[in-house]
Amino acid sequence: MLYGADYNPDQWPEDVWDEDVRLMQEAGVNIVSLGIFAWSRIQPAEDVWDFDWLDTVIGKLHAGGIGVNLATATASPPPWVSATYPETLPADESGASYWPGSRQHFAPSSPTYRRLAGELVRRLAERYAHHPAVIMWHVGNEFGCHLPMDFSDAARDAYRVWLRDKYATIDALNGAWGTSFWSQRYGSFDEIFPPRLAPYSHNPSSMLDFRRFTSDMLLECYLMERAILHEAGAAQPITTNFMGPFKPADYRRWAPFMDVIADDCYPDPSNPHRVRDAAFQRDLVRSLKPGVPWLLWEQATDAVNWRPSNPGKRPGALIAETAQSIARGADGIMFFQWRQSRAGSEKFHSAMLPHAGTETRVWNAVTELGARLAALPELPAPGRDARVALVFDWEAWWAVEERDHPTEIDYLALVLEWYGGFHARNIQVDIVGPEEVDAGYDLVVAPALYLLRDEGAAALARFVDGGGILLAGPFTDIVDEHDQFRSGGFVTQLAPVLGVRFEDFGALGGVSTGGAGVGALSPHAAQAARATGAAATVTFGLDGASLCGRLVAERVHAVDATVVASFETGLTAGSPALTRHPHGSGEGWYVATQPVAAGLDAVVATVIEASGVRPVVAGLPAGVEAARRGDLVTLINHGDVRVEIAIEGIDAETGAPVERVALESQGVAFVHAPAAASEPARKTEPFVAERSEASIATAGIPAR
Ligand code: GAL
Repeated sequence: MLYGADYNPDQWPEDVWDEDVRLMQEAGVNIVSLGIFAWSRIQPAEDVWDFDWLDTVIGKLHAGGIGVNLATATASPPPWVSATYPETLPADESGASYWPGSRQHFAPSSPTYRRLAGELVRRLAERYAHHPAVIMWHVGNEFGCHLPMDFSDAARDAYRVWLRDKYATIDALNGAWGTSFWSQRYGSFDEIFPPRLAPYSHNPSSMLDFRRFTSDMLLECYLMERAILHEAGAAQPITTNFMGPFKPADYRRWAPFMDVIADDCYPDPSNPHRVRDAAFQRDLVRSLKPGVPWLLWEQATDAVNWRPSNPGKRPGALIAETAQSIARGADGIMFFQWRQSRAGSEKFHSAMLPHAGTETRVWNAVTELGARLAALPELPAPGRDARVALVFDWEAWWAVEERDHPTEIDYLALVLEWYGGFHARNIQVDIVGPEEVDAGYDLVVAPALYLLRDEGAAALARFVDGGGILLAGPFTDIVDEHDQFRSGGFVTQLAPVLGVRFEDFGALGGVSTGGAGVGALSPHAAQAARATGAAATVTFGLDGASLCGRLVAERVHAVDATVVASFETGLTAGSPALTRHPHGSGEGWYVATQPVAAGLDAVVATVIEASGVRPVVAGLPAGVEAARRGDLVTLINHGDVRVEIAIEGIDAETGAPVERVALESQGVAFVHAPAAASEPARKTEPFVAERSEASIATAGIPAR
């Protein structure tokens, strides 16, 4: 189990470094991510390099038995870079430059940025690739954080190249983007710009490509650095830190290039859904590399500094949150950062070593956690324990949140609602792309999978054919990979599986935010209007109960499906709200609204019953979370009161047999409890979906 933090000794005088190592040992730290923002210290001017301090720090850490995850330090170019090479700066939609003075002020597609960053990485790699202290490499930092899109001239030039690589001919691009609409037909790739500030909506197909391009440019930066590390002979694992469901970067496309997945997760103590949301994030990153443990690369020991109000964690929450990561596949627990900064934007951010010193609640919690992790036995690999998959797809996310749709959809919020239906029951879920759905699952839920690629549709159909239960909808299978309607209406790819014909969308309305055109509310007012939640709902009847849906009440016809629930109110009253259809050896279900609260719970309960999937541990008290990792069951009491739970197994920390465990609020138990024989292992080996793997010559990224 790795335990440690970001370590920024360049912010401190040398005489602090020995104390750092001593206290790291006291806390049980065995790894630090070193020098993530140290570029200006390593290369104070273009032709000046200073590695002496880094040699010293690495030497001290090594002598202290602390492994180094060496950063490539490329996430914050020094002032001389921006002053000498302004073309490295990114730009916003209007073309205005983002200026230096913070961090992440680089245009990912700038050849000059890449040349300078590459040189820094080369020198670091040549110097430290064979250093025995260096056990991992940390490339960049949180790629895309702060700057989700860059509209600079560097982006413009690279975008044209990217599009030429993708489409080869301008006619192909015109076809894919549907440019006959509004006189947008391009005569050559040189006429194309990033989607900069325009009077009205950009072409949605072009927006989708620009998002793909943006993710790929960030990935290219990572791959460039990785290639340089390899060239210099670095044999250590190489990774960068993900941010869970982070919209700008399609991590599923990135994952094959990470030797290990590393993730930063900062649950908001004020978010009533923080346990659910963090569980989703951890399940998502685990699912990116099935069977391989991941690393929690950053969490906070206590308060952060970047929300409007930053409360600390409740007593015990650090262990409870950490256990949630371990339960869901993590083999490393790290923090931002080791020693609290005394200057700069993050001086109020908590750290392992608080500014107030070691006689603090936080230091006690940190040392207690270190001791507990050190005592854990070796953990089983996170298997593919889940029998339920929730489909979550970046391209669908990008496309479904474009404007000019029947209704605005917050895709992540909607997916989290579905996830919550399973999380509340302690049913283990993998978070997968549609192409990754395979016969190892019993139940697959695909909400708002608005953009559905051919391969994804084929995998879902194969899944149902083979005996699985698919719950699709609402707003699923509407467009192809270019964000264009397919011929023959909507829900075309899944129609045979679902046995329904989709007629129209039935947006429910509610508070109008006025779109973005003339008379629109300001973004702030629109957000406030949405937050008041005055959106209309619809009711549907299921098993004698009248339940609620939101967003849409789609008009769907049961062709050969059975109607399980019908709308009771609104324009679609009397038409199907939930259908079920036998197909192959399985069943396709369709839900025509986004059920809320009791409605969502009832629909989830219905498909759980139909599929026979079971919780990790049944009948747990409210607030207790259970997750399985091979034969290890982790129980976490997020509630306020002490609970007792019946579970037979071996306490993983003490080795003692248990029949019951008692958990105080925030208490955690790790119990070896193999799945019952009545819970058979996966029916098949994971299916590897067919995807086009042709390479983009420049970066080796699989082509779209
Ligand atoms: C992360 C980042 C760290 C630090 C931290 C503060 O996003 O990688 O460098 O800024 O947030 O919470």
